[in-house]
Amino acid sequence: MQSMEKRLPFQADWNALEIGCGTGLLSCPVSSMITSLTALDTSEGMIDELNKKIRSRRISNIQPVVSDIFTFPHVPEQKKEYHLIFSNMTFHHIANVNGVLYKLYSLLLPGGYLAVADLDEEDGYFHNDGNEKVHHGFRRSLFKTQLLQHGFTDISFSTAAALTKINRVNIEKTYTVFLVVARKSKEQ
Ligand SMILES: C[S@@+](CC[C@H](N)C(=O)[O-])C[C@H]1O[C@@H](n2cnc3c(N)ncnc32)[C@H](O)[C@@H]1O
Repeated sequence: MQSMEKRLPFQADWNALEIGCGTGLLSCPVSSMITSLTALDTSEGMIDELNKKIRSRRISNIQPVVSDIFTFPHVPEQKKEYHLIFSNMTFHHIANVNGVLYKLYSLLLPGGYLAVADLDEEDGYFHNDGNEKVHHGFRRSLFKTQLLQHGFTDISFSTAAALTKINRVNIEKTYTVFLVVARKSKEQ
């Protein structure tokens, strides 16, 4: 959240979409800075937890949705396009990153922002379950190339966090998390 606040010019009239919101660790603080937030997660359990937070904190501008980003409907005639799409630690769970970038580009308003935080390329031992189908982080230069191929501009990376943990092979290791911010071109 601190990295996003430093890097994004949040505006009170923004509509945003979050991919893989989980229990809403980012959704809640982001929602207090904008008009509305659609928070997607494939897991009903995660959305249940987010709904509990929304009720207990009396948050009225988050719309939680149980949905995969790939099946989330894009209905242009409803003019539900976004000033900001963001995601934390979800992209490494998405097999078809190019497919999702294509969709996110189409969901953004011209000039809109994409903010993705995820693991830098890691040793493959970050996740405790070795059978989980995940990307072992991302190499920033390759991620940048993918963003450029989809038409994103103004692409910049920073290091948002460093997580030190005992990994799956019992070694204490520090894993860094990048935040990349990119924009959809203003001319469409
Ligand atoms: C590691 S958790 C991160 C949760 C939250 N962003 C956070 O930082 O606390 C990844 C989340 O992404 C969700 N997820 C994975 N693939 C998804 C997809 N294709 N569409 C929407 N959500 C997805 C998972 O259900 C999970 O809740």
